[in-house]
Amino acid sequence: MSAMGDGTRAVRAGLPEPEQYEPTLPGPVFAAHFHLSGVPVGPYTYGRETNPTWTHLERAISELEAPEEQVETTVFASGMAAVSAVLLSVARAGDAVVLPDDGYQALPLVREQLEAYGIEVRTAATGGDAQLEVLDGAKLLWIETPSNPGLDVCDVRRLVEAAHAAGVLVAVDNTLATPLGQRPLELGADFSVASDTKGMTGHGDILLGHVTCRDPLLSAGVRRWRKVVGAIPGPMEAWLAHRSLSTLQLRVDRQCSTALVLAETLAKRTEVAGLRYPGLPEDPSYPTAVRQMRRFGSVVSFVLADKETAERFLTALRLVDDATSFGGVRSTAERRARWGGDAVPEGFIRFSVGAEDPVDLLADVERALDEAGR
Ligand SMILES: Cc1ncc(COP(=O)(O)O)c(C=O)c1O
Repeated sequence: MSAMGDGTRAVRAGLPEPEQYEPTLPGPVFAAHFHLSGVPVGPYTYGRETNPTWTHLERAISELEAPEEQVETTVFASGMAAVSAVLLSVARAGDAVVLPDDGYQALPLVREQLEAYGIEVRTAATGGDAQLEVLDGAKLLWIETPSNPGLDVCDVRRLVEAAHAAGVLVAVDNTLATPLGQRPLELGADFSVASDTKGMTGHGDILLGHVTCRDPLLSAGVRRWRKVVGAIPGPMEAWLAHRSLSTLQLRVDRQCSTALVLAETLAKRTEVAGLRYPGLPEDPSYPTAVRQMRRFGSVVSFVLADKETAERFLTALRLVDDATSFGGVRSTAERRARWGGDAVPEGFIRFSVGAEDPVDLLADVERALDEAGR
């Protein structure tokens, strides 16, 4: 599959060899335990450790994350389960880890947890290479690029090079880009981590996460963590995720091309400030993004005058749900400051572009901006 295009890979990823009278994608296997006599050796022993439905999904994600390489993926019950598995399987008391100070809003909770375990947490902004100043003696560098919700981008190759030279492991949260947008392992990272609740599964109906690594020892640590904590996905969720991957390229291509047109449209509106989209040539992230990303994501962010204007805009939208999360086929938007966790202005909107017809979506946004300004 390594020579195939993204669409071909997405529709075939992780499928077992054809077998007469068997379905193309085997259905979910609901099993707490498996028949097992004698010495308890896998592949399938107990449902907290392994499940054939996970195996198919894990192979599919591995093919998307690193089509040219042998890598291993572990799926989790949510993105946060995957994030925690990397940080907590790697860091020990006395270690230091570097986290972004502008990343996903649950990271401060993770920071508290790490510090409670005696792990030093250093922080750095996503853009501008500030990570290089705090790498010395660290165990792990965690980067999120593009960052959520600010959409800053860091140069993964440059940071990996510096981190590896200093003996520091690198994990990339690839949620926003998906493996069709960028492949962190190809850029040199040790872990590619994602919330598959977002663009990977793309229908806003399941929570899921994954970790992919090249090094079998690191992968074994992550797998062991899943077994210890029990943060396992249900077979139905895993099967739905695999089914959803077959449309990943169709969804992501539509979302990214509409997101660019939306950003171009918003750039012409005088009431819009602080517009960010890494695929917009005028965006500060663009020069780095264009070197390491193959698609620029479904999220556009911008700032309206104040909280009231932003709320009026969200209420006026008819084709866009006022809801959190991103990456789904139905567009969503939210006033991000309502959560209180991100350093953003009151009028900051995080807009996730869905698979609607671009003409309809743009008309809806322009009309809602007009109404919000009245
Ligand atoms: C960048 C990023 N990482 C991790 C997560 C956590 O994922 P989940 O909500 O699936 O636990 C999110 C959720 O929004 C996210 O945006």
